[in-house]
Amino acid sequence: MKGLILAGGRATRLRPLTYVTNKHLLPVYQKPMIYYSLEAMRRAGVQDVLITTNPEHAGDFINLLRSGADFGLRLSYEIQDDSVGGIAQAIGLAESFTGSDKLLVLLGDNIFTHDLSGAVKVFERRPKGAMIFGKEVEHPEHYGVIELRDDGRVKSIVEKPKRPKGNLAQTGVYLYDNRVFDFARKLKPSDRGELEVTDLNNVYVKEGTMKVEVMDGYWIDAGTSADELLAAGNRVAELKEYFAGSQPGGKKRIA
Ligand code: DAU
Repeated sequence: MKGLILAGGRATRLRPLTYVTNKHLLPVYQKPMIYYSLEAMRRAGVQDVLITTNPEHAGDFINLLRSGADFGLRLSYEIQDDSVGGIAQAIGLAESFTGSDKLLVLLGDNIFTHDLSGAVKVFERRPKGAMIFGKEVEHPEHYGVIELRDDGRVKSIVEKPKRPKGNLAQTGVYLYDNRVFDFARKLKPSDRGELEVTDLNNVYVKEGTMKVEVMDGYWIDAGTSADELLAAGNRVAELKEYFAGSQPGGKKRIA
């Protein structure tokens, strides 16, 4: 299993903060946001991790994270050019890195306590398919919304619907088989001109190979607004003990 952390995008909702740096380098309590994804990868048991980001601040990621050794990871970096966009487009950049493996994708602004290691192990043994992770939320209209069949299988995923059919949000955690790159190549841009992760996931839904696991514990998309960023920082402070693990060994430059 290979890992991909998405740290690109324009983050216009967090301006003016994101005029000066990339969203994923902003502080969430005592650490840059991307630390939480790196730690989640390590907890999931995935060591080879690619970070995709846009060109403006790519050097800052390398300066901060370097080889990834401080995190117990082997990091690679790939640039997502500004001229194109969308989560599914960024996933496509991981094709040669992933090789013949499967892929765990984390959106770099999602912070959560759910343990992915069990799902990753089970997924490794599946011949094909994908998996999404849902979380019940108060405002599903801000997210991709997962509709389930009576037997618990995924019926559809709708991106930010005006009238959501249920309150199960699609979080920014995805497991894919190796066909994901072919599927991503065939996607058409949405109305906002992006290749959407929801369209990608619906390919698997239609095929009947999409599974869903409901997350327990805490989950937040910290990149939605300044309020969510603040809420994430406050909650992480409360869950200090759990998230202390993301400070790799309290070593020299990470202190
Ligand atoms: O957080 C979960 C939600 O993430 C899902 O419920 C939605 O279905 C999914 O579309 C996504 O929605 P967002 O509106 O939160 O996506 P956003 O544009 O904020 O990007 C999410 C992350 O992906 C963020 O860390 C930046 C990164 N990203 C995004 C785009 C569009 C990239 O690296 N490249 C991109 O081109």
